Amino acid sequence: MAHTIGVIAGDGIGKEVIPAGIAAIEKATRGSGVSVSFSDLPWSCEYYLKHGRMMDEDGYERMGTFDALYMGALGAPGVSDAASAGLILGIRQKFDQYVNLRPMRLLAGLSSPLANRGAADIDMICVRENSEGEYSGAGGRVHQGLPIEVATDLSMMTRAGVERIQRFGCKLAQSRPRKLLTLVTKSNAQRHAMVMWDEIAAQIAREFPDVTWDKELVDAATARMVNRPESLDTIVATNLHADILSDLAAALAGSLGIAPTANINPERLYPSMFEPIHGSAFDIMGKGWANPVGTFWSVVMLLEHLGETGAAERVMKAVEHVTANPLLHTRDLGGTATTAQVTEAVCAQIAATSQSHLTIA
Ligand code: NAD
Ligand code: IPM
Ligand code: MN
Repeated sequence: MAHTIGVIAGDGIGKEVIPAGIAAIEKATRGSGVSVSFSDLPWSCEYYLKHGRMMDEDGYERMGTFDALYMGALGAPGVSDAASAGLILGIRQKFDQYVNLRPMRLLAGLSSPLANRGAADIDMICVRENSEGEYSGAGGRVHQGLPIEVATDLSMMTRAGVERIQRFGCKLAQSRPRKLLTLVTKSNAQRHAMVMWDEIAAQIAREFPDVTWDKELVDAATARMVNRPESLDTIVATNLHADILSDLAAALAGSLGIAPTANINPERLYPSMFEPIHGSAFDIMGKGWANPVGTFWSVVMLLEHLGETGAAERVMKAVEHVTANPLLHTRDLGGTATTAQVTEAVCAQIAATSQSHLTIA
């Protein structure tokens, strides 16, 4: 099998963690008859400062030719966050990656900042609507700089958009052992689109009678995540709500540095994109402190998407073998290990298990 991957390492620690992820893919697929080729797409804030735009004019055409996209992070001082994030949001919309999957559980050897909580308590997956809602991009500014200036960001939802994400969430919940789905909403304050969101969610949920379904307002959902994380399994939420809840979930499982994302076009008409959920973290750039675990876990999701489930499993097992050792925790997890040390340990472990896998095969 041959796979092609377009790689946007981007800015800040994106450039530090992506080579780690590529090394893991190479180790996990070596000698197994699977070939993976990587193409560097050098789009970043540096590129923006040189060219006045975030990517080449034929960027989408080029990206459209890959089997998957693998991204680090975008964002740097000196370039507005709205400009740099525009590339990420553009890719998600252009390639109709309307599902943003964010699994989170307590990995081996990691502890939660919540007292007395263990792996049985924190195991959830956030299904983030990734194409519309608060991130629709509809809006504008007029009369800029004048006292009468007006600015809007329109949260736009379509019936088709809500139906497809709710159906995806229900199917996912059904496939997980607990068959438990929580719909996050804010239909008490946002009384149009969010009311439609609730109505459609309830309609679709009726197609899945074996899924236990409940609804939580987003403000209460943050408290529930802290006070009763064990009551959450599959969570379906809007673009912005899920953005916030997924950072919270990551923190509850140890660090923003461990959390992965898959931006998926389920119909496979376009490439899907895989990235850690964290940003470019300029505060720790160049120090060797970046935790590569979120990037490795994103690699796991990428390999699963490509159908390379054996390789995906080997990477995930290697990651947990390494997180189980406190000497291999980076600073965000309270340790002193560097990105390079964690990467080396994960790659060595993948190589060890790949050897035995090939011997058995
Ligand atoms: P951030 O995720 O970059 O950093 C938040 C905090 O978490 C920082 O203290 C950082 O040091 C720490 N952190 C993040 N990832 C870590 C890792 N792997 N290991 C150890 N510590 C880690 O978020 P921010 O500060 O809000 O944003 C910085 C820039 O990144 C902004 O320009 C923002 O727009 C951008 N951003 C990009 C993406 C993306 O490209 N997908 C995601 C989020 C933010
Ligand atoms: C994420 C990021 C992005 C988002 C930013 C960079 C636009 O925070 O992937 O979670 O809000 O979706
Ligand atoms: Mn985010």
